[in-house]
Amino acid sequence: MFIAHSIDDLRGHLGRFDHPAFVPTMGNLHDGHLALVRQAKPLGDVTVASIFVNRLQFLPHEDFDSYPRTWDADCAKLEDAGCDVLFAPREPDLYPTPQTCKVQPDPALADILEGQFRPGFFTGVCTVVMKLFTCVFSEAKGQRTAVFGKKDYQQLMMIRHMVAQFALPISIVGAETARADDGLALSSRNGFLSADERAEAVQLSRILQALAANVRQGAADIPALEAEAMQKLHARGWAPDYVTVRRQTDLQVPAAGEPRVVLGAAKLGNTRLIDNLEV
Ligand code: PAF
Repeated sequence: MFIAHSIDDLRGHLGRFDHPAFVPTMGNLHDGHLALVRQAKPLGDVTVASIFVNRLQFLPHEDFDSYPRTWDADCAKLEDAGCDVLFAPREPDLYPTPQTCKVQPDPALADILEGQFRPGFFTGVCTVVMKLFTCVFSEAKGQRTAVFGKKDYQQLMMIRHMVAQFALPISIVGAETARADDGLALSSRNGFLSADERAEAVQLSRILQALAANVRQGAADIPALEAEAMQKLHARGWAPDYVTVRRQTDLQVPAAGEPRVVLGAAKLGNTRLIDNLEV
């Protein structure tokens, strides 16, 4: 696996390939990330992953400093998954001067759900992804593909929207959420959970599943079911931010018959988890 820390090294190396398939990450890799790499593999003539913990998408009180950095283990896992190129810029490589020019995502999508509880989060995500795209795809001659997990459903939608609005010649592939045996969605933040919290954590997906089953069966009073799901989490010791049923196309409140997705975000102890299920 070729490792590039600078944009010039990355571009110099990628010049010899035609159609990269790219998986951006913040490291601390788990099987969900590796599934994205494996999914990317047949989609290009070179598989590129990035590891960059992007300060721009963390609020001042969030876990930027404590976000796990597991370089040696990450490199070994990427090699194992068949990654060809790892782009791992240090902060001054990607942001040599403060990144004052930013992507301003559509507030109708960026300011709801995750964006309501993490203001500025999607500006940070879109800005770094745009920059990573220009680094990884600038030398490409054919198809350009990037793979994102559906676990971050709103993020995937935001990236698709950005790519469409800026007419970027990049295909965005959404990959199914990888789950532990008990159903917990794999996340880098699961590592923050104590043993007791880890045992409890699966309840988020169970409660979303119960809500999704009710929606599927045609339940009429969705707001009451959302409130009940929030209450169940509260009662179990969680601090939920939202549990909500939205339409799949734009995450607004759905009309009857539209494809829906159930989304939830809640804190368990100090760890904030998110999950979702398409209905
Ligand atoms: O999903 C993530 O890990 C990050 O938000 C991403 C897409 C790598 C941007 O920093």
